Amino acid sequence: MLYHEGTYYWYGELKGDSTYWNPNVPNWECYRTEAGGISCYSSKDLYNWTFEGVVLKPELSDPTSDLHPSKVLERPKVIYNEKTKKFVMWLHVDSDDYSKACAGVAICDTPTGEFTYIRSMRPNQNMSRDMTLFKDDDGKAYLLYSSENNATLHISLLTDDYLDHTGTFTRNFVGKSREAPAIFKRNGKYYMITSGCTGWSPNKALYAVADSILGTWTLKTNPCRGKNAEKTFYGQSTYVLPIVGKKDAYIAMFDRWEKKDLINSRYIWLPIQFEKDEPVIAWRDSWSID
Ligand code: GAL
Repeated sequence: MLYHEGTYYWYGELKGDSTYWNPNVPNWECYRTEAGGISCYSSKDLYNWTFEGVVLKPELSDPTSDLHPSKVLERPKVIYNEKTKKFVMWLHVDSDDYSKACAGVAICDTPTGEFTYIRSMRPNQNMSRDMTLFKDDDGKAYLLYSSENNATLHISLLTDDYLDHTGTFTRNFVGKSREAPAIFKRNGKYYMITSGCTGWSPNKALYAVADSILGTWTLKTNPCRGKNAEKTFYGQSTYVLPIVGKKDAYIAMFDRWEKKDLINSRYIWLPIQFEKDEPVIAWRDSWSID
């Protein structure tokens, strides 16, 4: 999600219509689809959405390209750079067996594309899979990503143009295998919701808290409550959206993967409530932003 000048932009993985098993991957259930690029929807109110098209297009003719449908493109995030006036997208870029483990970056003059792909990289020569971006109040931006074969989560400071990492990074939750990071800031503290590492299958979420974005991060408890809270409501963290103009209004967003039919994966959005400083995400069959 990106909020820019009164509009919310929702970026997502455009998945192919058939899901198949990659037999070349031992140890875990590597279901995958063709990667169709990144799509975007826009909304003024978070209820009514307009399809803005495929904003990062697949590269159909070059099988070696990161954007070829045989590859993996996941978890796109977009932030706006006030200095360069550009929209910068980062995403998880991988090979069909998930061994490439890179972060990719793309750029555009507008939020709705078409983005120009720049390159993929392993920041500081370290693996990068599940990722998110965070732009802080001072304009500095960070890439957060599961690294070291998903065992340890790295946080890298990006360059001022947001197109590269600076080399400054920290290792967090060392050996704890946390992935699917979703981060937000409240009252000067940083919060991160993560999942455990069980592929497409759901597991228990944990939140973590820090006084500084680069850490030290402290892992706390499961923020989810109610029906299926131990399985994150059959979802996996993907983003936390602060609602602009409303105090303490944050929406926790989860992917609900349909691992054998990935195109039919859906989303769960739930409000975050705070018990003192502890975030609590209770299941609700329905709710409204009001
Ligand atoms: C999950 C990850 C997803 C996807 C999946 C592939 O752990 O969070 O984004 O990469 O593995 O199995």
